[in-house]
Amino acid sequence: MMVIGHRGAAGLAPENTLGAIRKGLELGVQGIEVDVQLTRDGKPVIIHDFSVDRTSNGTGEVANLTLEEIRRLDAGSWFGREFQGERIPTLVEVLETVPPNVMLNLELKQITFQRRGLEEAVAKELKQFGRWDNVVVSSFDHKALETIKGLLEDLRIGLLTYNYLLNPQVYLDSLGFQAYSVHPAFELVDQQDCKAYKERGLKVFCYTVNHHETAREIEALGVDGIFTDRPDLFL
Ligand code: G3P
Ligand code: MG
Repeated sequence: MMVIGHRGAAGLAPENTLGAIRKGLELGVQGIEVDVQLTRDGKPVIIHDFSVDRTSNGTGEVANLTLEEIRRLDAGSWFGREFQGERIPTLVEVLETVPPNVMLNLELKQITFQRRGLEEAVAKELKQFGRWDNVVVSSFDHKALETIKGLLEDLRIGLLTYNYLLNPQVYLDSLGFQAYSVHPAFELVDQQDCKAYKERGLKVFCYTVNHHETAREIEALGVDGIFTDRPDLFL
């Protein structure tokens, strides 16, 4: 199974920072997952919550802060003194940090009724940087995935799910685009679903697995990879 560092390596370093990504890479992860949002001035940055409060020394909504304001924040001290000075990274910094042989999973996060062009901004930066090979863009917002796939045809798309659906096959067949992978919560997947996904040629990556026993059970279902906060436990 592939080991994918969740938010870099969120159990070992402050989530979604370059430090966390480097930690995951040092441990030898095969993939890195980070969350992407837009600043007030439309720049893609790497942060999970819609506000900066929990993971920085600042306050306020990401969508209400400019890139310059966000870059001034310390995104490391909340996790540990040794991480003081970590910043909320830009998407470009992440593209510079994750080597092409490591899968980069960008999870798009936006409040759906406030769509402000996250898909366009991410597609533009991937094109400018010239890297979308070995990049998977995922989201719980499948409309955003349809949009970004329309902007960058070869992009690999990962369908994030949380619900245990009655008939996921019917849903998959109804999509107007080809997905690369399905990313279910590990608690909400079973062998039957995995089989249906695999039959459609989709990879299955489950989040968020932080224990050996869960990993063993998940592997038995035929899952291709796990997102974990603790890549050190599996590598
Ligand atoms: O992409 C997998 C996982 O990160 C989805 O949930 O809330 O941790 O971003 P969340
Ligand atoms: Mg995520």
